[in-house]
Amino acid sequence: MRIFSGIRPSGNLHLGNYLGAVKNWIELQNKPDTELAVFGVMDYHGITTPYDPKTYRNQVLSVATEYISAGLNPDGKKILLIRQSRVPQHTELAWLFNTITPISWLNRLPTYKEQLEKSPKYNHIGLFDYPVLMAADILAYKAGTVPVGADQMAHIDITNEIAKKFNSMFGETFSSVKVPKIEGARIMSLQNPNNKMSKTTSAGSGQAGDEAIMLLDTPDEVRNKIKKAVTDSGSEIKFDIKEKPAISNLLSIFSLVVNKEIPELEKQYSNKSYSEFKNDLAEVVVSFLKPFQEKYKEINSNPNEVEETLIKSEENAINIVSSTLKEVKEKMGL
Ligand code: AMP
Ligand code: TRP
Repeated sequence: MRIFSGIRPSGNLHLGNYLGAVKNWIELQNKPDTELAVFGVMDYHGITTPYDPKTYRNQVLSVATEYISAGLNPDGKKILLIRQSRVPQHTELAWLFNTITPISWLNRLPTYKEQLEKSPKYNHIGLFDYPVLMAADILAYKAGTVPVGADQMAHIDITNEIAKKFNSMFGETFSSVKVPKIEGARIMSLQNPNNKMSKTTSAGSGQAGDEAIMLLDTPDEVRNKIKKAVTDSGSEIKFDIKEKPAISNLLSIFSLVVNKEIPELEKQYSNKSYSEFKNDLAEVVVSFLKPFQEKYKEINSNPNEVEETLIKSEENAINIVSSTLKEVKEKMGL
């Protein structure tokens, strides 16, 4: 099994990213049938939407540090953590794929239209071409397993269409890509349980307001956000998405953080008030984040180490993707 996944460095990680995605990737890295697991900080994808060039390089390093703090263990051989812009073969392959990808395939993607609505001034080829670069990220490693959320399925479909078209034009080269079934939780906003917990909030991109708990939030920030989290009418602590979406979300978070089944928590809190429940939740989240934050602080005290870890991974990544590029270019007559 060859795994590839990536995250855009558009902000720091929140609890939803961790419980819904990163945690599962980290579990995959150690599976015995994992031959190669590559995780990327997708900094070329990140510049297709508004960003600050002054802080971007540090932002990328900070996201990489967060991955390692969360338990990713890049050894530079089997498990790699890379910056997309440091492995130029990704963009080289994207160019080659550009020459075989019909405009109509990209035109029908909802993600492009949604992004354009969010930032109308950012109407450029890079945003339009985003999925072709993503196909290149994955196929450069001939990865067959790509753990991503449901929102990325349209991009995975394009990846498979590009692979198929390449094979039919130039001969069998790429196999199909699959998204593993992972029981990733969907964590909702603390302020509006109908929306996903998200980095892009009313407070601006990358600066979650009270909606999201960031992995790097201080204990007091966590306590405050949970205290301010919306609740539902009534007073019973019960999992019921329809009638009690806010309490259900808080129960899900509690359950994942302490590794306890939801019915057990319902029983434990059957005669307790919302505020007692929230106080306890705040404390378990604070303890849950503590080892992550300690590791982050430790790694961050020596930023050269992260840089070295990345460089080691990137060197090996370049070796791996160079052989794909050689094969592709030969087949394309270059
Ligand atoms: P994003 O923060 O949107 O770039 O997403 C990065 C990864 O985290 C993707 O795999 C998403 O599916 C996942 N993710 C983002 N927000 C949530 C959430 N609220 N609950 C669960 N998973 C999430
Ligand atoms: N588009 C993905 C997202 O927004 C990030 C990404 C870029 C990615 N390239 C990838 C994910 C390749 C998996 C594989 O979440």
